[in-house]
Amino acid sequence: MADIEAEKLHGSHPVATDARLAVGEQLQELLVDLVDLSLQAKQAHWNVIGGRFRSIHEQMDELTDAARDWSELVAERLLALGVAADGRAATVARDSQLPSLPEGRIEDHRVIELMVERLLETVRRARRRLGELGERDPVSQDLVIEVIAGLEKQLWMLQATASRP
Ligand SMILES: [Fe+2]
Repeated sequence: MADIEAEKLHGSHPVATDARLAVGEQLQELLVDLVDLSLQAKQAHWNVIGGRFRSIHEQMDELTDAARDWSELVAERLLALGVAADGRAATVARDSQLPSLPEGRIEDHRVIELMVERLLETVRRARRRLGELGERDPVSQDLVIEVIAGLEKQLWMLQATASRP
């Protein structure tokens, strides 16, 4: 775990050090998932093929942007807690819990299935963190709730793409 820096900078922080370390670990794990999600959405944006190319191509770019925005929120919350954020490629490759996408072109219906799985996994993991976050730092919990709401909106839109009346 990265150093707590705030004491060196200010001498005090409104959140206790042990709480910041614990919350920092949770936020770092979420950060890694979100960076990986943004990379995977871009990979899908590029490699999708099929009759629904255009809509899924665009939807994947929206998901890339959204995941990048959420990773920014989470990373800067880490720093606000005095904990360094680690978004390095090697760290993401080592720590991400999301399965890798298959190499090469991916058919449109398969892109939806694969990205729904990844969104669901990210949401499940984020939701599991809420209890501890709420006990240790409700401000970080609130931020993660905002991220989950965004993830679940993306999940709805992607699942709607695959639904039939
Ligand atoms: Fe593009």
